Amino acid sequence: MVAAAYQAFYQQSLDQPDAFWREQAALVDWQQPFEQVCDFSRPPFARWFVGGRTNLCHNAVDRHASQRPDAAALIWVSTETGQKRVYSFAQLQREVETLAAILRAQGVQQGDRVQIYMPMIPEAAFAMLACARIGAIHSVVFGGFASHALASRIDDATPRLIVSADAGSRGGKVVPYKPLLDEAIQLAQHKPEKVLMVDRGLAPFERVAGRDLDYAALRQAHGGERVDCVWLESSTPSYTLYTSGTTGKPKGVQRDVGGYCVALAASMKHIFGGHAGETFFSTSDIGWVVGHSYIIYGPLIAGMATLMYEGLPVLSGRGASAEPDAGIWWQLVEKYKVTVMFSAPTAIRVLKKHDAAFLTRHDLSSLRTLFLAGEPLDEPTARWIAEGLNKPILDNYWQTETGWPILTLARGVADDSPKFGSPGVPMYGYRVKLLDEATGEELHGAHQKGLLAIEGPLPPGCMQTVWRDDERFVRTYWNGIPGKQVYSTFDWAMRDEDGFYFILGRSDDVINVAGHRLGTREIEECISGHPAVAEVAVVGVADALKGQVALAFAVLRDPARAATPEQAQALEGEILKKVDAELGAVARPARVRLVTALPKTRSGKLLRRALQAVSEGRDPGDLSTIEDPSALEQIRAALGRT
Ligand code: PRX
Repeated sequence: MVAAAYQAFYQQSLDQPDAFWREQAALVDWQQPFEQVCDFSRPPFARWFVGGRTNLCHNAVDRHASQRPDAAALIWVSTETGQKRVYSFAQLQREVETLAAILRAQGVQQGDRVQIYMPMIPEAAFAMLACARIGAIHSVVFGGFASHALASRIDDATPRLIVSADAGSRGGKVVPYKPLLDEAIQLAQHKPEKVLMVDRGLAPFERVAGRDLDYAALRQAHGGERVDCVWLESSTPSYTLYTSGTTGKPKGVQRDVGGYCVALAASMKHIFGGHAGETFFSTSDIGWVVGHSYIIYGPLIAGMATLMYEGLPVLSGRGASAEPDAGIWWQLVEKYKVTVMFSAPTAIRVLKKHDAAFLTRHDLSSLRTLFLAGEPLDEPTARWIAEGLNKPILDNYWQTETGWPILTLARGVADDSPKFGSPGVPMYGYRVKLLDEATGEELHGAHQKGLLAIEGPLPPGCMQTVWRDDERFVRTYWNGIPGKQVYSTFDWAMRDEDGFYFILGRSDDVINVAGHRLGTREIEECISGHPAVAEVAVVGVADALKGQVALAFAVLRDPARAATPEQAQALEGEILKKVDAELGAVARPARVRLVTALPKTRSGKLLRRALQAVSEGRDPGDLSTIEDPSALEQIRAALGRT
């Protein structure tokens, strides 16, 4: 059981939401007070803090710059380029204003979209905050995505301008961004008017005359210009962030300004326990939701310094005898006196392959808590890191759609102890239910497996809608359960007798590779575009390091294309290269297995769960609807498990 103090806090959030959220709203500055806490007159659409005017950039930057101008705001460390930079709140404000001036001068106005396709460099943070400042809607695309993935997001967001850079770097290898961006713009129907290029000097690139702008030159030209924050009505969209679902077309998760600002401020206080003047370190990437909420906005709104890290968790040793360094994060914790840290289970599993002594070589006395999220946290990994660091490890479960944790322990409210295997209990504001998938009935008993759902209104900070597609928002998230309009997380879960939840995996086609959420359909669409492929299925398969990996099963148009093992291997290589080039290495399946049939029902529906079960060496369960049972035998044979 969680402490009575948290139970009362949670109950108040459900029973008296207006009073509860009014109190949380006082954590941020409002230029104009709101008239209504929540308008849910048009379910499932919720509007929070109606009529209030605020600005995310003001709350993240200006208000701290005016109080503590010299306090550190953004600490950037790149072990890729050997650089580090520290910006105080005052300096951060100047950089953001300069970039806002550049955007304005290029005609970017409130409501325009600005796409951001960048590595982990300070300019990416400036760009996000500059958009927030002037009310432009940013849409960050993860730098690991390649041209086709980027093009489909450009077409959906229709940005006026794109901010990008010459290259990122991974493990010392330069990863050029500009050629991918140029190709994406060529592929896209929509053409952005301008591309603002940050030149890191890593990879020479070609400039498109009249379109491509040089950030360094414009920074000089606009340096020192003042650009006031635009006070935005609370429900104005602040950003979109694309995420995968059941179709190949990614969804633009759209968030507001005021609700998000309040939700993050409240989460920093009640969940993460971070205080102004301290340092927060999230090892995620700005391309993911964790990067939005807990590299950029959350810590800064709380007045903390945020540590932005470009590099791998384990540095390869230099010189012949040098050992890899699996202690870089802890070195940063010591150096910058990190108090709260946020990472993903995969990263910890990577560290776990190295000596646990790396965890104790540095002075970690500043660190209070390590939060892990994005994928299931297995018990051995949780134990290893908890014992190695001798700090509380808190699992937290949420989604791009919600923007902040749904399940965890609010240790800022009560000092509850985590249970291995469970992210914890529902966070304040979330009316979490477990529902029977077939009947929609609520499951009240302990240890019953059901779909994790949330009754509306979703609390502040959660998605408002799917960008430009209200109908898709309702259809996708709110119509899945028979007889009820509830938000579906698409995760299976169960609850124990103490009210702790356990996440049991996705109910849809989304897979989670190393904490990265990927849609199998997008990968399938890419592979089926290969001329040799007639049909393909991609499933997520359990993996000891990455949680899951993607496995592809392809049926060839002409089996003679892969008559010999050498031909099969060459074809597999070609297909993987296609995925790398179009979607990015992040989406690359671990293997492509060539088969002559896929397991399907008599009506032609792919039996994904059976395919996944067989791939994991499990019993595929009920096969009464399968058309051709030999298809599964073939899959077993292809996997080398007969
Ligand atoms: O399946 C759940 C899994 O990741 C999905 C959301 O991924 P994304 O939109 O990228 O947001 C990540 C935000 C942290 C969920 O639907 N997931 C996320 N956290 C956990 C998790 N599965 C198990 N345990 C978690 N703590």
